[in-house]
Amino acid sequence: MTSLLVTGIGELTTNVPDVGADALGTLRDAAVVIDDGWVAWIGSASSAPAADSSRDVDGAAVIPGFVDSHTHTVFAGDRAVEFAARMTGTPYAAGGIRTTVAATRAATDDELRARLHSLRAESRAQGTTTQEVKTGYGLDVETETRLARIAAEVTAEVTFLGAHVVPAEYADDRAAYVALVTGQMLAAVRPFARWIDVFCERGAFDPDESRMVLQAGIAAGLLPRVHGNQLGEGAGVQLAVEVGAASVDHCTYLSDADVDALSASDTVATLLPGVEFSTKHPYPSARRLLEAGVTVALASDCNPGTSFTTSMPLMVALAVREMGMSPDEAVWAATAGGARALRRDDVGVLRVGARGDLAILDAPSRIHLAYRPGVPLVSEVIGG
Ligand code: NIG
Ligand code: FE
Repeated sequence: MTSLLVTGIGELTTNVPDVGADALGTLRDAAVVIDDGWVAWIGSASSAPAADSSRDVDGAAVIPGFVDSHTHTVFAGDRAVEFAARMTGTPYAAGGIRTTVAATRAATDDELRARLHSLRAESRAQGTTTQEVKTGYGLDVETETRLARIAAEVTAEVTFLGAHVVPAEYADDRAAYVALVTGQMLAAVRPFARWIDVFCERGAFDPDESRMVLQAGIAAGLLPRVHGNQLGEGAGVQLAVEVGAASVDHCTYLSDADVDALSASDTVATLLPGVEFSTKHPYPSARRLLEAGVTVALASDCNPGTSFTTSMPLMVALAVREMGMSPDEAVWAATAGGARALRRDDVGVLRVGARGDLAILDAPSRIHLAYRPGVPLVSEVIGG
């Protein structure tokens, strides 16, 4: 066992409200001891205990590592041309997913692994210490299983998204594809996954098909989460609440009834501002959700189609500038909010007994994450 004392922290965000004077549990002139990967002590730098080694961060701000609760980082290929066309007026359509499916099926395990690991390293360098990864670019039993197995090499938060779109070879028999996803494909992927997801949207899966997918996953022991209300209003939010999903993600187009349903539930609304950035859809109002008492998370949705970025600092900056969040609300949503969306209480928070996952900022306060957009402010990451 090795212990590390991180001291000289000018502003420590703990996300434990009763620790500091504000909702993010801020401590000034603080220190943290991490023992074998877990937080062993937190308090004032002047009373910190000794440890095997120590690191003085010289007044820097420190936050819990980001919890990116929504990514699709096992894939092959590139859709930069599709992005360029969108920027000059071509609308986004869910069918673009099939382009990545073709490239992914043709890729070797090692090619997929190399891409996944490089995106994981990129996200970690920007402060992400917990990252969910979805399947969904295989859409046949063999490739979905490969994607889940490879994803499980980098995270415990693997999501089975066989119901991403109906692949071309099943275009004339959707029911047969839903039967495959809920039968043989689910059974093959199950050993590698924790979550079941479905893209409940026009052009992907309708509400009845989506419910079948989620219920089959739940029956197999997976926990539900939903892609919904991305391209227009629809049944995604209501279905997520109905099945007790941990999170419904996108939430770009919400009716008042959707907001009411979320506020009366334990389902987190995960907002993905990289998608609005990259598809030119309007940014949803996080303010509307927060004012209704909904728990909001922020995630990158890193994928080659709608949000090819791993940057959680960018999500914080966009949420502040475009979605009506305060910098503190956005930092909470990108850390503790993501942890809620993954039903985890050991990450996204710095308290004794939690994971010792933290990001040291080259800045005196967490506000700089939004105040200095596009600047690599994460100078060091511990854990994750
Ligand atoms: O989260 N919404 C569905 N899936 C992805 C998009 C995937 C793609 O276009 O390749 C998303 O935005
Ligand atoms: Fe997604």
